[in-house]
Amino acid sequence: MYVYAHNPLLMQAGVAMELEDSLYPLLREVSIGIDPYDVFQDAEWALLIGAKPRGPGMERADLLDINGQIFAEQGKALNAVASQNVKVIVVGNPCNTNALICMKNAPNIPAKNFHALTRLDENRAKCQLALKAGVFYDQVSNMTIWGNHSTTQVPDFLNAKINGIPVKEVIKDTKWLEEEFTEMVQKRGGVLIQKWGRSSAASTAVSVVDAIRSLVTPTPEGDWFSTGVYTTGNPYGIADGLVFSMPCRSKGDGDYELAKDVIFDDYLLKRIKKSEAELLAEKRCVAHLTGEGIAVCDLPGDTMLPGEM
Ligand code: LMR
Repeated sequence: MYVYAHNPLLMQAGVAMELEDSLYPLLREVSIGIDPYDVFQDAEWALLIGAKPRGPGMERADLLDINGQIFAEQGKALNAVASQNVKVIVVGNPCNTNALICMKNAPNIPAKNFHALTRLDENRAKCQLALKAGVFYDQVSNMTIWGNHSTTQVPDFLNAKINGIPVKEVIKDTKWLEEEFTEMVQKRGGVLIQKWGRSSAASTAVSVVDAIRSLVTPTPEGDWFSTGVYTTGNPYGIADGLVFSMPCRSKGDGDYELAKDVIFDDYLLKRIKKSEAELLAEKRCVAHLTGEGIAVCDLPGDTMLPGEM
């Protein structure tokens, strides 16, 4: 495993020590470095964790720009030295747009190989539905998170199931689903930061592992998982050219296909459109980093990362 970060080498050494001391059965070697052209050499999987958090007085446009520059650089380096079939999972926020920037700067790598992590949101949604229904969380399936890893994300309780039964037939409190549940998932990251002063770490790490496992093992019959992927030619009517969280299935070969048999209602479509509008605005804001011209920042006023409350 290679650990690369903008952080000082001292911090990376600490991460390396933790990795070594964990005796992971598949870990053979830990290398650290600050040059992505060294660290990404022949990489088959790249987990891009680090990003600059929004500081006091920083506009969201500034955040997109600063992080975008980091992810443009990483995209260029991956393009130059990684395996041409490298799978890239972007965790650092704003992860959807960072993934888009990374992808656009890596034209030799298939666009399909870039993911933005929304598995953490999927896990959060499964947990809340299981708690409400009084079941263990492995009984919740078909849990889609649509859209952006932000407070416009849409935890889809229309398609989700509990013990194979539509959630709305198990949890009959539609008001709870539309309001409390939805907001709880959208804002979970921020509430967690308020409670203990830093971003989620353990649950994020677990969700990264879950995201990889979902791509390297066949998806159970009838189920699917959520991941932020490029929207070219999707069957759901979502604008092309975004990294948007959608329901996916995998044969276990590292690749995925979009899930079929997904249903929509007016509530779901309206919410998805809001997240789509936010991502289109983010995309316009980083046009200078994706090779699509001059950036125009007209971000919706209420646009926030889960952690920005
Ligand atoms: C989360 O959802 O926990 C994080 O994305 C929050 C953050 O901004 O670090």
